[in-house]
Amino acid sequence: MRLRVGIVGATGAVGEELLAVMEQRGFPVGELVPTASERSVGRAVRFAGREWPVLPLEGARLDECDLVFLSAGASISRALAPKLLAGRPRLYDNTSAFRLDPKVALVVPEVNGHRLTPAIRHAAVANCTAILLVLALAPLERAFGLDRVVVSTYQAVSGGGRRALERLKDELRRELAGEVLPAGASPPFAFNCIPSIGEIDPGDDVAARTTGEEKKVGDEVRRILERPDLSIVATCVRVPVLRAHSESVLVELRDREARLDDVIAALRDAAGIELRDDLARGVLPMPRLAAGGDLVQVGRIRPADRPGCFTFFLAGDQLRKGAALTAVQLAELQFGTG
Ligand SMILES: NC(=O)c1ccc[n+]([C@@H]2O[C@H](COP(=O)([O-])OP(=O)(O)OC[C@H]3O[C@@H](n4cnc5c(N)ncnc54)[C@H](OP(=O)(O)O)[C@@H]3O)[C@@H](O)[C@H]2O)c1
Repeated sequence: MRLRVGIVGATGAVGEELLAVMEQRGFPVGELVPTASERSVGRAVRFAGREWPVLPLEGARLDECDLVFLSAGASISRALAPKLLAGRPRLYDNTSAFRLDPKVALVVPEVNGHRLTPAIRHAAVANCTAILLVLALAPLERAFGLDRVVVSTYQAVSGGGRRALERLKDELRRELAGEVLPAGASPPFAFNCIPSIGEIDPGDDVAARTTGEEKKVGDEVRRILERPDLSIVATCVRVPVLRAHSESVLVELRDREARLDDVIAALRDAAGIELRDDLARGVLPMPRLAAGGDLVQVGRIRPADRPGCFTFFLAGDQLRKGAALTAVQLAELQFGTG
């Protein structure tokens, strides 16, 4: 089987990673249709030993592909998905456009892969921070039940796309050369932590005090775990890390008798997780180590202040497991190529 594979946003941070993941996993691409904005027309992307010209959306005939990865932002997915679904392709959508739409499947293969039935033609890939978190929460939910989750994130700048990453590198070079960048309305990423990621809803007081990213993490984790009642408090922070997000997590388990050893065992045995939990030997989850890998590293697991409460730290590559790898895994499940 050789598939005609379209990518919307092929020149972006996630688009580039989609190409790398498909190549590494031997995804059966017969023909690649890479598209991007008009800015990139005339460029080419490299895949499977050859150059593929980047096409504008108009005229790329994405509706004739077997599958299309959508990775160019929510507004483009919103406009494009209905048109493509009238044609041939299955869609794997990395944007936030349809993640809460009950007609669209929101699937993390290791957690709720059974939700990706053959009839589904539009699957959403969850928010990167939510994917990394839910991989660690799912085994705890299965083994002990979850009552409450409190998470603080340390999110890499590449989570904001290719231009944000280039901006951080430029800022680092300039600051190290002695320039002092102004911390105005658009504060520098360099040597900074910015507790605001995503849009802010001007709705009621709570909405106006919660960022889009924080809302996504709660809403999407609840949907994937099928726990609409689960209490999740998230604080999302951009940190000057190039790649791979980290999260500090506190869980309150329903099973107040849960023992530390059992919590560690549940995480150790979970799909998609690598345990790095030896503080004395320095075996820790860290973005430098998680970058480029497929697994979410979990460690620093310890009891918290009350029975049934535990805390841990995780790190995972948000461009791979948080986006491109999960999208390709979903396609593998549906095309039987995994
Ligand atoms: N970065 C992450 O870690 C991450 C993780 C999970 C999900 N996501 C989501 O994935 C999507 C892509 O993110 P990214 O980080 O890859 O962004 P990015 O690096 O900024 O790339 C955006 C891509 O979309 C293309 N594009 C922009 N405007 C377009 C238009 N009007 N028509 C056609 N193509 C257009 C860009 O083409 P040009 O190069 O020509 O501008 C580029 O290929 C976003 O929805 C994001 O929220 C990102």
